Amino acid sequence: MKDTNKPTRASRSGGKLLYVVHMLLFLSLGFVLGMASMAKFPNFNIPFVVPSLPSPKPSAPPPPPTPPPAPQKLQMGLMSFLPPSGVIHNMTDEELFWRASMAPKQRRTPYHRVPKVAFLFLVRGDLPLRPLWEKFFAGHRELYTIYVHADPSYTGSPPEDSVFYGRMIPSQKTKWGDVSLVEAESRLLASALLDHGNERFVLLSEACIPVRNFTTVHAFLTGSATSIVDSYGDGDCRARYDR
Ligand SMILES: *[C@@H]1O[C@H](CO)[C@@H](O)[C@H](O)[C@H]1NC(C)=O
Ligand SMILES: *[C@@H]1O[C@H](CO)[C@@H](O)[C@H](O)[C@H]1NC(C)=O
Repeated sequence: MKDTNKPTRASRSGGKLLYVVHMLLFLSLGFVLGMASMAKFPNFNIPFVVPSLPSPKPSAPPPPPTPPPAPQKLQMGLMSFLPPSGVIHNMTDEELFWRASMAPKQRRTPYHRVPKVAFLFLVRGDLPLRPLWEKFFAGHRELYTIYVHADPSYTGSPPEDSVFYGRMIPSQKTKWGDVSLVEAESRLLASALLDHGNERFVLLSEACIPVRNFTTVHAFLTGSATSIVDSYGDGDCRARYDR
């Protein structure tokens, strides 16, 4: 029995000792850790060391969140909306035709509107009769718009002082006798429809020449309510098609 008690007592005192050693170890570990953290983060104690700093009033409400920067005021005037600044765009045909299909619901315009005639040229490259057309358009800048659909491979450009300068719309390849020609004409028409000032649309090829002066053509077209094919054609012109 004693034998059994001895180890128990011994183990008990040993356990106590172990407990004390554990406690000491634990405390020293805590001390070491504390020292280490103080060495590592020397500023750790600053909040306790500098109580003289004016502490924020607990009753002070938190500063209101700074309002988000006011959105830049859009200077969207009516005139900047009406005539497109150019004919260059990156719309697909589908996007272009959708935009061109929009029409104002009000007939009356809140601005002075001069009906313009859109001249739509379907050409391969340079317009061979450009000098003649330049003469035709001279002095009537407010009454017409020009749109040119050339072969996409054409990289030339009329001189900067030409009325044709910068009027080349994004184009696609066309083929004679092919539906691609209809698509090209649709592209020209849709581009012209983006400008609400355009009221009449003249489809022209590079072989067309003006046979009347601008005043006469403009007055004739804007005064007419019908679509016209070969408007100035006489017997000879119709004979072209053997009809
Ligand atoms: C056209 O350009 C605009 C920005 O310049 C871009 O967001 C848009 O995706 C382009 N559209 C096409 C069809 O490439
Ligand atoms: C345009 O032509 C018409 C008829 O041919 C003529 O009466 C008119 O004077 C011409 N206008 C100009 C500016 O040449």
